[in-house]
Amino acid sequence: MAQDTLAITDSRTNRTYTLSIDQGTIRAMDFRQIRTGPEDFGLMTYDPAFMNTASCQSSITFIDGERGILRYRGYPIELLAERCTFLEVAYLLLFGDLPTDIELKQWVNDITHHTMLHETTKKFMEGFRYDAHPMAMLVSTVAALSTVYPEAREIYDLNNRLLQMKRLIGKMPSIAAMSYRHSLGFPYVYPDNDLSYTENFMNMLWKMVEPKYVANPVLARALDILFILHADHEQNCSANVMRSVGSAHADPYLTTAAAAAALSGPLHGGANEEVLKMLDEIGSKENVPAYIKKVKDGHGKLMGFGHRIYKNYDPRAKIIKWTAEQVFQVTGRNPKLDIALELERIALEDEYFVSRKLYPNVDFYSGIIYQAMGFKPEMFTVLFAIPRTVGWLAQWQEMLSDTEQKIARPRQVYTGHETRQFVPIGQRGVLASASL
Ligand code: SDX
Repeated sequence: MAQDTLAITDSRTNRTYTLSIDQGTIRAMDFRQIRTGPEDFGLMTYDPAFMNTASCQSSITFIDGERGILRYRGYPIELLAERCTFLEVAYLLLFGDLPTDIELKQWVNDITHHTMLHETTKKFMEGFRYDAHPMAMLVSTVAALSTVYPEAREIYDLNNRLLQMKRLIGKMPSIAAMSYRHSLGFPYVYPDNDLSYTENFMNMLWKMVEPKYVANPVLARALDILFILHADHEQNCSANVMRSVGSAHADPYLTTAAAAAALSGPLHGGANEEVLKMLDEIGSKENVPAYIKKVKDGHGKLMGFGHRIYKNYDPRAKIIKWTAEQVFQVTGRNPKLDIALELERIALEDEYFVSRKLYPNVDFYSGIIYQAMGFKPEMFTVLFAIPRTVGWLAQWQEMLSDTEQKIARPRQVYTGHETRQFVPIGQRGVLASASL
């Protein structure tokens, strides 16, 4: 098939270049041949925040932002959320296909037997202040696991790599639960291998003095669905960090900790915590119009709204809204839902948001569910990090297997000083003020 090409004429030299178009992209390195002379470095592309730059080829997750489509390995998110468990979807993301019954049983058994944490983790956790943010505790503790499993740095030993990935997936709920119990001053609860992934997480969070924790099946399923929805989202900020740090061949614990640190940002995974603070600040449905005016006047953002890719309704937000109704039948309706629904209703009609294609994203409703389940807002991003660990690991291993990838090291456009004369310290203030 004839190669698609782009013809470019450089007005500085009147030379014309023909660049190949492949999968809707031009290779940035193809621009380097466009030079004004032998001394010229050649053209680069400039794209702050990667608004229009593909950093990799990936077969894990597909998003169509205009149509609000999200698929994991080709399966629509709506189907997976309705028909699968989180560990089944984790298997799909990591290995490329849905598991058979035997494969799933083995996979669940493997993950279940990696939920225990080394006892030193308790001493490490005790070092945090009583009011330490659980996300900071999670990031630090995941990084600390690098000291427990030094063999993890052998990232091209595939059996070792798989073992470390199982450990990370199995231990994330345990670390999350420990950070939650630490913040309440409660004793830690050990995993119960009789329980499912989400039931065991609930056990480690909420078991008190009863001999055996029994999870509410509606809440356990709701958490499972929420974990499926949060598992991966192609090249989001934290996935980019996972790939970038991983490209330096850091071990998977330190790399995952870096990705979790990115997720903690309020513009990324931290938004779900910010949504609750925003709803608390609004206080009632009657106050919604005034708050929206404040945002439109440039004072802050509507947290849980907007997305770099989705210029339509985030498909995950729709499923989360449905899940909320299931949870509220058990927990009682969260009154903040009424404020959120009014905020959404008004925003979706308002030209400011419509013109900017700002719709509710995955974080808009998730916090309301988590709060109804009894989680404090500080825990919301931790609940995001648990399932996203699977997505990070899927992106990480795909990067390691991609023969085109090497250590990530972007270029820059230098805008600083040319060479300057050194000024002895005794003359600096004088010379500097004299040159102003
Ligand atoms: C997640 O990438 C992913 O996939 C992330 C994620 C995942 O699963 O990993 O989906 C999870 O991080 C969801 C996003 C959670 N963040 C929030 O809800 C925080 C609030 N949202 C915004 O900060 C913002 O929408 C971003 C960061 C999500 C996206 O920002 P962009 O694409 O960089 O867009 P932008 O900031 O350039 O906004 C374009 C315009 C600007 O206005 P103008 O300068 O054109 O006048 O829209 C405005 C922005 O000011 N705008 C908002 C807004 N989001 C963008 N105005 C009010 N409220 C908002 N929420």
